[in-house]
Amino acid sequence: MPEQEAAALAMDSAPDSASSPKRRAALRRRAAISAGPSDAAPDMATSEREFQWTPEDFERIRALIHARAGIHLHSGKQAMAYSRVARRLRETGHKRFHDYLNWLERQDDDAEWQEFVNVLTTNLTAFFREPHHFEVFAAWLAQHPEGPWRVWSCAASTGEEPYSIVMTAIETLGAHQAARFRLVASDIDSRVLERAAQGVYRVDHLKGLSEERLHRFFLRGTEANAGLVRVRQSLQQAVEFLRINLIDEAWPFRQPLDVVFCRNVMIYFDPVTQRRVLERLHAAIRPGGLLFVGHAEHFSDARDLFVLRGKTVYERL
Ligand SMILES: C[S@@+](CC[C@H](N)C(=O)[O-])C[C@H]1O[C@@H](n2cnc3c(N)ncnc32)[C@H](O)[C@@H]1O
Repeated sequence: MPEQEAAALAMDSAPDSASSPKRRAALRRRAAISAGPSDAAPDMATSEREFQWTPEDFERIRALIHARAGIHLHSGKQAMAYSRVARRLRETGHKRFHDYLNWLERQDDDAEWQEFVNVLTTNLTAFFREPHHFEVFAAWLAQHPEGPWRVWSCAASTGEEPYSIVMTAIETLGAHQAARFRLVASDIDSRVLERAAQGVYRVDHLKGLSEERLHRFFLRGTEANAGLVRVRQSLQQAVEFLRINLIDEAWPFRQPLDVVFCRNVMIYFDPVTQRRVLERLHAAIRPGGLLFVGHAEHFSDARDLFVLRGKTVYERL
């Protein structure tokens, strides 16, 4: 189960009254989500829903997000699709999913399409998530102290992953040498990219980071900004943020990449899309380059392209 939903479920179990209508609806939604792929329509009485919702609406959302982002929503995702896309109905003043989707399909410019994609992506991330990857990356940097270091974080979400990569580079190469270190961080979701570029986080989001790292790489907010931290300029200036859709044909790289972090995104794609993206990553990475993937992502079918070099670390053949 994608983690953001697991987190949402954990929050659902907070002690509010089990007998309130809101609570009962939450429990039914939870049942609908946790029942998994074979699950049928969410068990919500029409009268409890804010907007009219039919199985055809779900099918349309499913087809549209798959075509736009490669994201595969299995039938257990109906409650999630309802609640996420309902935000767009509220924003745009539509009363029925049917009307919103008709209107969306008539949009020529990308603005609402981008919002539609933004609400359907799952953006959970953390600093130094899957820490063993950063140890492998540090060892690779130590073997290549002079560079060039062509690194891409291709599902960067709100920035914790690319900033963790830069921290690792500074710690391994030293501040002087790492001043030349640059990476591209991209995502399909325009809103998370804005937040990533701002580099502002809640202090409690940094738990697990050592005092030394906090001190070296973050500035603490004061007064109105108390409880917030901002990444230091040395991190921010090393990252170029771009909006890149992994299923688009055009990726903006002219030279072969050395290292790609493609973590916890392919899990949302169907196997055909995964294979296509892996083939394109293979073409984009130089032979011997590294591909880091998420903890639940295994590409044993792609042995012709990548060989496993460690826990969820692949080498490009
Ligand atoms: C769960 S987050 C993973 C963040 C980070 N890589 C990590 O492992 O902590 C998945 C990210 O993939 C992005 N994403 C989903 N589909 C995408 C696509 N077609 N192209 C690029 N990014 C995509 C989402 O917007 C989201 O920010």
